[in-house]
Amino acid sequence: MEHHVKDESLAPAGKNRIEWADKDMPVLASIRERFEREKPLAGVRVGACLHVTTETANLMRTLKAGGADIVLCASNPLSTQDDVAASLVFDYGVRTYAIKGEDNDTYWSHIDAAIDHRPQITMDDGADVVGRIHAERTEALDGIIGGTEETTTGVIRLKAMAADGALRYPIVSVNDAMTKHLFDNRYGTGQSTIDGVIRATNRLIAGRTVVISGYGWCGKGAAMRASGLGAKVIVCEIDPLKALEAVMDGHRVMPAVEAAKQCDIWITVTGDINVIDTPAYETMKDGAIICNSGHFNVEINIAHLRENAASVREVKPLVEEFALKDGRKIYLLADGRLVNLACAEGHPANVMDMSFANQALSAEYLVANAAALEPGVYPVPEEIDHAIAALKLETMGVHIDELTDEQRKYLASWQEGTV
Ligand code: ADE
Repeated sequence: MEHHVKDESLAPAGKNRIEWADKDMPVLASIRERFEREKPLAGVRVGACLHVTTETANLMRTLKAGGADIVLCASNPLSTQDDVAASLVFDYGVRTYAIKGEDNDTYWSHIDAAIDHRPQITMDDGADVVGRIHAERTEALDGIIGGTEETTTGVIRLKAMAADGALRYPIVSVNDAMTKHLFDNRYGTGQSTIDGVIRATNRLIAGRTVVISGYGWCGKGAAMRASGLGAKVIVCEIDPLKALEAVMDGHRVMPAVEAAKQCDIWITVTGDINVIDTPAYETMKDGAIICNSGHFNVEINIAHLRENAASVREVKPLVEEFALKDGRKIYLLADGRLVNLACAEGHPANVMDMSFANQALSAEYLVANAAALEPGVYPVPEEIDHAIAALKLETMGVHIDELTDEQRKYLASWQEGTV
């Protein structure tokens, strides 16, 4: 079986960790059991480009149980867990192309390996496979029935492609499912981002000023968790509604150049480019730690730092010190790549359980329905979203009430008002 992973001998450790994550992914496990019986993906070729983590391994096991024929590659050069990649190949028979720290050429050659598989379904986290197929590998469009997309950044790219009339097949936006972004983006990014900062730096958060750029679901989660650890949180936003929300959530809100003067730790989660840039560097507090938890490594203008530093050195794994000419020092984590996956292990299994349940059920939905869909970006069907929420509650032992007939009737009527 062709593959490209770092080290075969890491497989046993990877298998142990995959099984550990699986214990906290009960929704995905129940889908896997059904897939095993029903084989809804029998013979379907899947090209998956995801962060190669223990949680992703359990998604791959689920797709395989459903009969899928998978090639998996990394969706980020720094997010691969090498033991997991080895176990996927040697224990679970999933063709995997992913090595932590791979250079850009290797990263793209791995994406090409997934495209060479001639997938009928593409499964992206960031839309690099879709982008590559539409720009350079158009021969692979033939035979594709549909795709899924995991993350906000990827969905934004796909919607831009659709608006341009460039998108050539239907893609389900897993990110837009409630059971994805309300939990994964908020609680998953919230916890794993702070986890990444702490693992890389071992700095105390209490009493520190943490700046969060971007107050979407991920930013809200990071702000909530930093605040829970005792940080004073400053939010930088460009959207007045989100800025207002941050104010009412109890955070200070101000422009980046002002925040820079006070920041001890700065986390960007906007999905846009050069969020930390020259003006902020000019006012930035000595000793500030800066990192990115958005999908691409574009949020921090690293080139400016490199060009203007008197010296650069690695002070700890994944912590780079930039000594500026005026004597101030700035510390960059993980070369500006996703801090939660590069410095920690990404979101915990319990939230990825729902995200990847959406992936598995969206793949099943595409096999049954893609022929009737025009090219475009589609939401996860509401029934799937609700079924995942209900199943998750069940696995947590949480029971809820049902509407009475009287209440249902009342909600459907318009005649009754003030009594
Ligand atoms: N994205 C964020 N966390 C992740 C994880 N643990 N596995 C796969 N993708 C992720």
